[in-house]
Parts: sequence; C-alpha cells; structure tokens
Amino acid sequence: NKKITIAIDGFSSTGKSTLAKELARYLGYVYVDTGAMYRAVALFAMQKGYIGAAFFDKKSLIKSLPFIKLTFKFNPDLGFAEMYLNDVNVEKEIRTIEVSSYVSKVAEISEVRSKLVEQQKEMGKNKGIVMDGRDIGTVVFPDADLKIFMTASPLTRAQRRFKELQKKGDNVTFDEVLKNVEERDYIDTHREDSPLVKAEDAIEFDNSNISKQEQFEKVLKLVNI
Ligand code: C5P
Repeated sequence: NKKITIAIDGFSSTGKSTLAKELARYLGYVYVDTGAMYRAVALFAMQKGYIGAAFFDKKSLIKSLPFIKLTFKFNPDLGFAEMYLNDVNVEKEIRTIEVSSYVSKVAEISEVRSKLVEQQKEMGKNKGIVMDGRDIGTVVFPDADLKIFMTASPLTRAQRRFKELQKKGDNVTFDEVLKNVEERDYIDTHREDSPLVKAEDAIEFDNSNISKQEQFEKVLKLVNI
C-alpha cells in the first residue's frame, strides 16, 4: 500500500484535529498539528513579554526566531504527539484562551510562517502524514494526494471550543470564546501571507450537522480510492 499525504484545512474548531488524529491512527500515519506550532510561537512571545493586550514587538520576535525550537514528541499514553517549545512540554499552556487571543497576530508574520512551513515540509517529505492547519493544501503540500476543507457555523464551533475549555477548567465565558473564534476567522482569512482559503482541489465538509463517526467514514472512503 502506497503511503499518501493528507492535508486538512479549515476554520478553527471545525473538528480538524479530531479527524486528523483518527485518520493517522487508523492508517498508521504521522499526525502533525500545525496550529500547535503557531501557538507555541505565540506562547514564546508572551513569555518574553513581546506581546500583550495592547502591544506587539514584532521586531524582537522576528529576531528571536532562530532561538525557537519546536518539536513533537509522541506520548504513548495519549496516542498522539505533544508540542515542545525549547525542550519544554507546552501542550497545556498553548491551549488557553490567552494564547488563542494572540496566535493569529503571530501567524500573520511572514518570517514566522516561512520558518514553520519549512519545518512542516521537511516532516512530510516521506509521506504517510496527516497534517492539519490553514495553509496545508495551498502552501505546505500543494501536491497532497487528498485535501479536505472543513467548515461549520461559528456558533457550532464556539460551542465545541467552549465545552473543551470548560472541561479543562479554563474560566472563560461563552461570549469570549465566540468572539475569539470570529476574530481568528477574520484575521486568518484576511492576512496577506497565506490566507485561509479552500484549495481548488480540496473536498469541502460542513460538519455542523454530522457526527464525528459519519465524517470519519466519509473521509476514509476518499482515502481508499
Ligand atoms: O488550529 P488552531 O486553531 O490551533 O490554530 C491556531 C491559529 O494558528 C489559527 O487561528 C491561525 O491563526 C494559525 N495557524 C495558521 N496556519 C496554520 C495553522 C494555524 O496560520 N497552518
């Protein structure tokens, strides 16, 4: 069986990572969450005091890029890889609403994008990979064998994200989550470098009204053709 490359793009909280993880597990492929990489860079900027509610020192962040090491380490207990920033596990820290509120501003910077895209291309060079993000089918793997583009209504997505954050004990209101989802959609689709768009040859799934299982089975059929 020939190994293929699967690119999954779409808006935030559309269930991309759940689908990507399930596919990777089923196929025995590597799963890469590129959002985690942008989130780790945003966390770095926060830790260094380069970004805050009313300021963003982009120059300092750009200068620091050579000193940002991003790695994934497989956690056998969880069944997927966790994000490490300069050898520290940051899987929990990168999922907070605070990081979510800064990450799209960090992801707008071309120097950040080219560093991460280069690393992502390298990770996919042997195929057998499922990668999710915003620009995978358009920029990272324009020749991917299968491209999926996921959408769902903002309300559905905010409800999902809200439940996730509540489960983790994050003290956040539904309105904050909805506002964050809408803000990120806006920045991600309007930025100059690699905006979120559906690749021409991507297959679109609106999963507002279908179950995870249904969706997984539909996509699996596409893998087998
Ligand atoms: O996928 P996730 O919601 O964790 O991504 C967080 C943010 O990282 C997105 O809102 C987007 O700004 C950025 N991102 C990106 N390109 C990717 C993946 C994520 O710009 N390939």
